[in-house]
Amino acid sequence: MTKTDNILRMDMGSVHNHIDSDNGILCLGIESSCDETSAAIVDSNKNILAHIVYSQIPEHQKYGGVVPELAARAHILAVDEVIRLTLERANKTINDIDVIAATAGPGLIGGVLVGWMAATGIANATNKPLVAVNHLEGHALVPRLCAASASDSHTNIDVEFPYLLMLASGGHCQILLVHNVGKYELIGQTLDDSAGEAFDKIAKMLDLGYPGGPVVDKRAKLGNAQRFHFPRPLCDKPGCDFSFSGIKTAARMLLDKTNKDEIDETFINDFCASFQQSVVDCITNRLTNAMKDERVKNAAPKTLVVAGGVAKNSAIRAAMEELANKSNMLFAAPPMNLCTDNGAMIAWAGLENYRIGKIVTEPVAPRPRWPLIEL
Ligand code: KG4
Ligand code: ZN
Repeated sequence: MTKTDNILRMDMGSVHNHIDSDNGILCLGIESSCDETSAAIVDSNKNILAHIVYSQIPEHQKYGGVVPELAARAHILAVDEVIRLTLERANKTINDIDVIAATAGPGLIGGVLVGWMAATGIANATNKPLVAVNHLEGHALVPRLCAASASDSHTNIDVEFPYLLMLASGGHCQILLVHNVGKYELIGQTLDDSAGEAFDKIAKMLDLGYPGGPVVDKRAKLGNAQRFHFPRPLCDKPGCDFSFSGIKTAARMLLDKTNKDEIDETFINDFCASFQQSVVDCITNRLTNAMKDERVKNAAPKTLVVAGGVAKNSAIRAAMEELANKSNMLFAAPPMNLCTDNGAMIAWAGLENYRIGKIVTEPVAPRPRWPLIEL
């Protein structure tokens, strides 16, 4: 047994979007802000030369969520191997790399420190430029590396600034106007839980394991979304903010008043479908308001984009694509493996920041909280 045996290894392979004879600028990106240790090498022609993800999900599953202390230790055990393997798969040495990038926040600080210190060490030892990437900016910009519509995952869409972004992950739920690299305008955000957290909590109530999003999504496909009525918090109010804690409370109350022997497979599937529909309706309602917001109207974004782990959700992708079509906007979503945390999004955000000269010139202290509007 090696030191990283209880970790799920995923080689995401390479993605050649553009056939070019030279790779342009090469960036090595490192991600370690939650439960994935990941690295990737991307080039300025939007090719992913190699992409390795070590997921700690099996390690945390028995606790029903990520244990920060365990995550930090697991990152330490995995980070060197992940970087070495990424270079090997890309058939490159560190000398071939032009820029080093790593997540410097927001996230679980123990994990962020591991990836950030690894990147700092490599950059210092090789005298290469270093970029401190905001993890949320990684999610926000990755659709520019690689994106497709929900109904046609093979067509590559070029996502141009400005765009209207639904950023929904385990830690965040925000509607943003993305004006440019490093230039974000917050249009709406959750007042309590994130959408991902709501999925995770519902799954926990039903004993479906962690993370909750994928399993609730799968169950919802088999269920009847009309059977239970969950609230749509704030949807009768103007504005673009979200609230998910009321849905969670309603779910808890419904479970408490249901006899245990009534909770069969059909009940669980219908429960998941009904819950998911309430999240979909909230997202559609809030985005509809966002499109009417003066700031958004003035910026006139052409594309509606979804990103973050929750962007994997099939119903959310489909509803947002329909909304975009109705509103004469394009719709773009990253491929599934670039929605949840990954090194490619950090490498790409590193490259985009490098191109506008945002490199580290003095020591950077990683931040557990780092809102996009503070970039
Ligand atoms: O972006 P991410 O990997 O981590 C953070 O930066 O937080 O997002 C993880 C979140 C988890 O809450 C997970 O349950 C959710 O994304 N998720 C999904 C799906 N796949 C992952 N939520 C809904 N439907 C999915 N298919
Ligand atoms: Zn994330």
